[in-house]
Amino acid sequence: MLGRMINRKITNMYLRTLITAFTFILLFTACSVNIDPIEEKIDDLLSRMTLEEKIGQMNQLNSEGTFDDILLRIKEGKVGSVLNEVDPKMLNRFQEVAMKESRLGIPILFARDIIHGFKTIFPIPLGQAAAWNPDLVEAAGRITAIEATSVGVRWTFAPMIDISRDPRWGRIAESMGEDPYLSAVMGKAMVKGLQGNDLSDPTSLAACAKHFVGYGATEGGRDYNTAILSNEQLRNTYLIPFKAVSDAGCATFMTAFQEINGIPCSGNPSLTKAILRDEWNYNELVVSDWSSISEMIVHGYCRDTCQAADKGLNAGIDMDMMGEAYSSALCQLVRDNKIEESAIDTAVRRILRLKYRLGLFENPYADTTAVSPFYAKEHLEKAKELATQSIVLLKNEGQVLPLRENIKSIAVIGSLANAPHDQMGTWVFDGEKEHTITPFQALITDYRDKIQINYLKTLTHSRDEDKSGFGEALTKAKASDVILYFCGEESILSGEARCRADISLPGAQSALLTELKKAGKPIVMVVMAGRPLEIDKELPMVDALLYAWHPGTMGGPAIADLLFGRKAPSGRLPVTYPKMVGQIPIYYNHKNTGRPPLNPPGMNDIPIEAPQMSLGNKSYYLDAGDKPLFPFGFGLSYTTFEYKDLKLSKDEIEKTEFITVSCSITNTGNVEATEIVQLYVQDLVASVTRPVRELKDFQRLSLKPGETKEVSFNLSPTQLSFWNNDNQFLLESGDFKVWIAPNSAEGLMGGFKIK
Ligand code: GLC
Repeated sequence: MLGRMINRKITNMYLRTLITAFTFILLFTACSVNIDPIEEKIDDLLSRMTLEEKIGQMNQLNSEGTFDDILLRIKEGKVGSVLNEVDPKMLNRFQEVAMKESRLGIPILFARDIIHGFKTIFPIPLGQAAAWNPDLVEAAGRITAIEATSVGVRWTFAPMIDISRDPRWGRIAESMGEDPYLSAVMGKAMVKGLQGNDLSDPTSLAACAKHFVGYGATEGGRDYNTAILSNEQLRNTYLIPFKAVSDAGCATFMTAFQEINGIPCSGNPSLTKAILRDEWNYNELVVSDWSSISEMIVHGYCRDTCQAADKGLNAGIDMDMMGEAYSSALCQLVRDNKIEESAIDTAVRRILRLKYRLGLFENPYADTTAVSPFYAKEHLEKAKELATQSIVLLKNEGQVLPLRENIKSIAVIGSLANAPHDQMGTWVFDGEKEHTITPFQALITDYRDKIQINYLKTLTHSRDEDKSGFGEALTKAKASDVILYFCGEESILSGEARCRADISLPGAQSALLTELKKAGKPIVMVVMAGRPLEIDKELPMVDALLYAWHPGTMGGPAIADLLFGRKAPSGRLPVTYPKMVGQIPIYYNHKNTGRPPLNPPGMNDIPIEAPQMSLGNKSYYLDAGDKPLFPFGFGLSYTTFEYKDLKLSKDEIEKTEFITVSCSITNTGNVEATEIVQLYVQDLVASVTRPVRELKDFQRLSLKPGETKEVSFNLSPTQLSFWNNDNQFLLESGDFKVWIAPNSAEGLMGGFKIK
């Protein structure tokens, strides 16, 4: 008996010791596991919010117009974000109501589309991509953020990284072009520049990757139109840049307007949940596009606002931009037990997390006392640098460029020679044309004392059909040593809902060039546009062609520097340049098909009464062949470069191995210049057909005259892998080609095998 009593006592003591030890460990663990203080704050705030207040956070309103209505709704806790307020006093007024008069004092997140600059305007993103310089794109993003956050805006809807292969689509201007890798590199750079190193820094501007996904694939290049994409197209092309910016910490995403394969992107959980949230583990704020949730009714995908709100929330979209679907339907859906309040909490948590990370609870107001950073000298200098590097020299016959400083007279002709508004390009709300320096102004400033400048705008704008000034323009051209002809498209012809079925020069611009040609003088054509324009007829008429996109505030000084050789052009095309609109879609990373064309005949090469089968059955146009006017990655310089001695580290590699590819490059001309050295691969045979070329890397290489440098690239197994239609990411054995090249149509080629 005594023994049993002693045993029980020992057992109880042992148990007590165990429980004490376990409790201690638990407490220690709890203290040592760093519980994110922001998540704790969110938990606390959520626990105090009513359902209506939670849904209020999911509502983004536009500031234009109904000021008092917005104030009231902010006070009632029914607004989470306000779009398009950039007057710091107004913005602070809104914020004061939110912080001091609403029940819980949750700050408003102010947003604005700032696609390529706030006040200092940089080249349109397509032009920025043409610079192939991520450091400069990042710097432009940083300046943009500094200027925008100075008025209290802390969220912008950039980068737009929709792969764009169709110049009929007005929004190609906002994109980083047709290539997944280049778009990924530039998208990451823009995110890094906009957000900086720490979202809580007052100059940090939360970025937004848009439009998720496949918006650039709409049929016919028509905005908001239908897109049909296979899984391998979606994965191997359109998702690539979005995955890159997701991994790079882009603070938010925006869903697209259009449908893919019958389902609108603003209600498609297989995209925004299965891929973005679950596969990529992206748990940050996703906002719809402007009323794109409600528009699912117009799509014929939802019968009413309730169903649209349900599908939007179920797709993992946290905030409804201007659609009022969430604000009008979610409450009832919860009350009717059609959706769980926990789904609302998940969305609101992401919204509050961004606000906490931005430091808005501690620092909600715009500092109206600070010195304005707008148009700071160093901002304008960076804008000029990026504009200079974005401009692509596409033709330079007889080395007519750079112009010699001893030239006596130049004719400056055309509607875009002095168009301060249009030079800024699309999606410019806050840039002021008074600050734009046009090419005419830059030439006058730099050369009026040395060179006679015979200027005549001739056409008042790009669509002008009035030829009454042609005679005078021709007179000025005859009186000049060289003609600088500035043409292209006004900014309003580019951007959202600005699609064109005919992408030739608008108005009488082509006719004016024909008139100027009569002067018998060298012609340098400078194009400002938001897309590649059809210039197949005009190209033979000119001696040199500079493609300046819409180059922004400092486009004039940039063009002047290039024209007179103070800088050598280094821009390279971020999109394939079609001969004519009928070739579209035409892009470099196309499939080989079963009948690739081999030097097809031109229309006029076809013999009269040619026998039925004499032309060969290949994939090309009788009247346009299969080649573009200029290939992706193409651009000339004021020097020449020679590529030699391609070397591969191995002829055969295991699936786990890297391969190194290198060559030497010499500047064989007489001016210092920068070459964009591009690395392409082709997977010759695979279980899903692969493109004839894919850009995998590039380097900027500056070389002095006569200088030679070795460039080297490493290719990883991941870079050689691809997605199939069954959602598998594969690296298959077989033969590969590899190029180190100046563009997507040339280069030194080698081959290797994956075992
Ligand atoms: C527009 C655009 C989107 C933009 C948003 C807010 O319709 O599609 O890119 O960010 O609305 O202006």
